[in-house]
Amino acid sequence: MTPRFQTLRRIVLVSSAALLAACGDRHDNTTTATTPVASVSSAPADGQSAAADQLARGRYLVKAADCAACHTTADGAPFAGGVKLASPFGTFYGTNITPDKDHGIGKWSAGDFYKALHDGVTPDGQLYPAMPYTSYRQLSRADSDAMYAWLMTQKPAAVANHAPELSFPFNLRFAVRFWDMLFLEDTLPDASKGRTADWNRGRYLTGALGHCAECHTPRGKFGQLDQALPLGGGALGRVVAPDITPHGLAARGWTAPDLQTFFATGIAPQGSAFSEMYPVVHLSSQYLTHDDLRAMSTYLLGDQPPAPQPLQSVSADAAQLAAGRNVYLAVCAGCHGRDGEGKPHVAVPMHGNSTVRQNDPHNLIVAMLDGIDAQDFPGLERMQEMPGFAGQLSDAEIAQLASYLRATWGGQPANVTADAVKALR
Ligand code: HEC
Ligand code: HEC
Ligand code: HEC
Repeated sequence: MTPRFQTLRRIVLVSSAALLAACGDRHDNTTTATTPVASVSSAPADGQSAAADQLARGRYLVKAADCAACHTTADGAPFAGGVKLASPFGTFYGTNITPDKDHGIGKWSAGDFYKALHDGVTPDGQLYPAMPYTSYRQLSRADSDAMYAWLMTQKPAAVANHAPELSFPFNLRFAVRFWDMLFLEDTLPDASKGRTADWNRGRYLTGALGHCAECHTPRGKFGQLDQALPLGGGALGRVVAPDITPHGLAARGWTAPDLQTFFATGIAPQGSAFSEMYPVVHLSSQYLTHDDLRAMSTYLLGDQPPAPQPLQSVSADAAQLAAGRNVYLAVCAGCHGRDGEGKPHVAVPMHGNSTVRQNDPHNLIVAMLDGIDAQDFPGLERMQEMPGFAGQLSDAEIAQLASYLRATWGGQPANVTADAVKALR
């Protein structure tokens, strides 16, 4: 390799890393399309019935793959694009994927569509990997065709695309090709072991459709998914996507039935879905069938799931804990309960909460500083807003509080420092 080529390679790799970071911050809440699927009840001829089946499957797959998360804005038409995806190097926008002939994908063939999902290449050129074709590459052609067929029945929206706003050299679209050559793999590695039908179905739901790795797998130096640590925890956004390997999940007390409840409802004994996990449940996993959620949970934990770990008891300095306890009673207990037991329809328990049980206090501190917006959960469940305490509590108080929560209800050392809090403000 000549030095010049090496330099070019470095620029390409570093810029590509930045592009991937786009999955990190989503600024718009999104809504799902509610277009009804063609009905198969009137005993149509075989061809019609097959077409109706394909449409119903396409609609389901588009939900399972959470296309709306990046292609539908809160107040825009379904799939008309415009969702803003921020990265440290610029901003990407989900594009218009309605059948509009000028602004959407109305002139595309099913083959063009598959190529976009599989290779990140469109009739106009190269896509940035902010569109997660790294994961969608594993989709079957039949499933891609079903999604295409269903999207083509949606209402065309004449909404123009927003070009990404990237600075040089990240705006060199052609450069993504080099990144693809180096890092685009046909399969993603597994974090768990299994061979049952459920495990295999779960693998497809998690890896290909749910593109869980895009957030939950750490990224290497060049923004590529770290193949050595599948689902080992990723830090793209303000809230870290935790380790969801079998070992990581079991260490925080997760079981397959609890995971299923979490994906179906957003709330489990281990806590609620918030930050970037909330849209995953809200737009996607809540619509999956019971069988598919069981398969996903089986895949995550493996055919032989590790036993969920009980809370460790932790010894800690009594005076420090007492200080943390006082803050807890003053500002948190009203919602989360005096003994961290939570209150139904008000707030989740802190006792055994998976955010409190994480080794790294990052998410715990961020939740306290920023708070969590009011969220609607499937069914009639709704959680009020959790206020942020950045203005009300000092670094030292938040550190004491985090240490108290970790040692009392998280089985983690009471070692959070004021500096760690300060760094996250
Ligand atoms: C994590 C966010 C994200 C998700 C999820 C996502 N996309 Fe995208 N998609 C994007 C972004 C960003 C672009 C534009 C990329 C660019 O500018 O190169 C894009 C571009 C596209 C394009 C190219 C459109 C054009 O006019 O060139 C198609 C087609 C597409 N997405 C389809 C889908 C489908 C179908 C799904 C679900 C299976 C999906 N996307 C899920 C972010 C996403
Ligand atoms: C006004 C009620 C309220 C107060 C006060 C409050 N919280 Fe919360 N908290 C909530 C709600 C509601 C959620 C769940 C939000 C959701 O997911 O929609 C939550 C979630 C959390 C989470 C994320 C865990 C999870 O599973 O969702 C943590 C950590 C947390 N609270 C800690 C605290 C701490 C520490 C305090 C005191 C500094 C506090 N909360 C004060 C209502 C409150
Ligand atoms: C857009 C980024 C993103 C995607 C995509 C995503 N997650 Fe998450 N996930 C997060 C974040 C951030 C959290 C931490 C907040 C929380 O606990 O709700 C999280 C939390 C979780 C948790 C709770 C872990 C714990 O111990 O609290 C599970 C389980 C989970 N995700 C599974 C999945 C699965 C399975 C998929 C794919 C279907 C997925 N996630 C897709 C970002 C994402």
